[in-house]
Amino acid sequence: MKVFVAGGAGYIGSHTVYELIRAGHEVVVYDNLSTGRLGAVHPKARFYEGDILDKGRIIEVLNCERATGAVDVAMHFAAKLIVPESVSQPLEYYHNNVEGLRQMLVALVETEVKNIVFSSTAAVYGDSERGECFEDDLTLPINPYGETKLADERMLKWAGEAYGLNSCIFRYFNVAGADATLEIGLDKDQLTHLIPLIMQATLGLREKLSIFGNDYPTPDGTCIRDYIHVTDLAKAHVLGAEYLYQQQESLLVNLGSGKGYSVKEVVDVASQLFDFAYEYAPRRAGDPAKLTANITRAREQLAWQPILGLKDMLQSDHDYRQKLLEVSR
Ligand SMILES: NC(=O)c1ccc[n+]([C@@H]2O[C@H](COP(=O)([O-])OP(=O)(O)OC[C@H]3O[C@@H](n4cnc5c(N)ncnc54)[C@H](O)[C@@H]3O)[C@@H](O)[C@H]2O)c1
Repeated sequence: MKVFVAGGAGYIGSHTVYELIRAGHEVVVYDNLSTGRLGAVHPKARFYEGDILDKGRIIEVLNCERATGAVDVAMHFAAKLIVPESVSQPLEYYHNNVEGLRQMLVALVETEVKNIVFSSTAAVYGDSERGECFEDDLTLPINPYGETKLADERMLKWAGEAYGLNSCIFRYFNVAGADATLEIGLDKDQLTHLIPLIMQATLGLREKLSIFGNDYPTPDGTCIRDYIHVTDLAKAHVLGAEYLYQQQESLLVNLGSGKGYSVKEVVDVASQLFDFAYEYAPRRAGDPAKLTANITRAREQLAWQPILGLKDMLQSDHDYRQKLLEVSR
């Protein structure tokens, strides 16, 4: 297959490009480099700089690629994704995430690309009452970021019905880790997330890790979340693209490990690997007690399963960050 990857210079996009190339596919990366890095683009992928808000440029690239064979599947990773920023700049988020997808879909329809793999998020579920999220659950996002992704999912559904565009929508849970080569990994810090905060503490960039709340209704009182290794996630995208290409039908699938780990359990596993200090702090506003993925559909429809565990995520994330620190010294 030839795959067009919008946002392929970013964290998850670059790992997916590596897995597509390992699986023998041809890859074209399209990115405005707003948060991505040219250095993260696999040397065997062709790179075009451009914005998804610019449908004319996307059409130009897709037409130019046609000379060596039309694109079979497009992927969309090109979004803004920082929840607190989405609260302070909602209009920027609607512009990039919703209008950006619309522009890209216009370009795909015009150039007759029929398949798209799309990155959505567990944030579309909002405060799930059950704790374990199923794809058919009610979606009630509690922040503008989640709202933009839900609007995108609905746009894909209607565009599918009107233009015959097949979509594979993946709702990711907490993504962590780095490629085994350590050539790519997470370059920036999402400091609302647990694993980046642990890494800062292990690398001496923060004095202590704070565990926010130990009085939740969970076995050890700390919040429970679902963590998935970025390489397992990237491999699911290869299967999703192949599914669209072969089956020509749409799919909506959770991607997580299907296991819940409490914050304390993650801290305990990290403490076996690295030295760092932590303390308990009051609850943060807006943190539900439990949020995990039910991944039956991904297992059944894509014959996919997560292989790498929490230790792999923590160790590879740490090793990649250490490598970055050594290079910058
Ligand atoms: N990282 C996570 O934990 C997580 C969780 C759930 C969902 N997601 C979703 O996964 C996708 C990828 O996230 P990531 O962590 O790799 O983020 P990232 O910021 O590393 O990657 C996004 C990439 O898209 C590019 N981009 C952004 N806006 C663009 C535009 N208008 N035109 C062209 N390129 C543009 C950026 O330069 C970057 O390379 C996003 O859609 C995000 O919402 C991520």
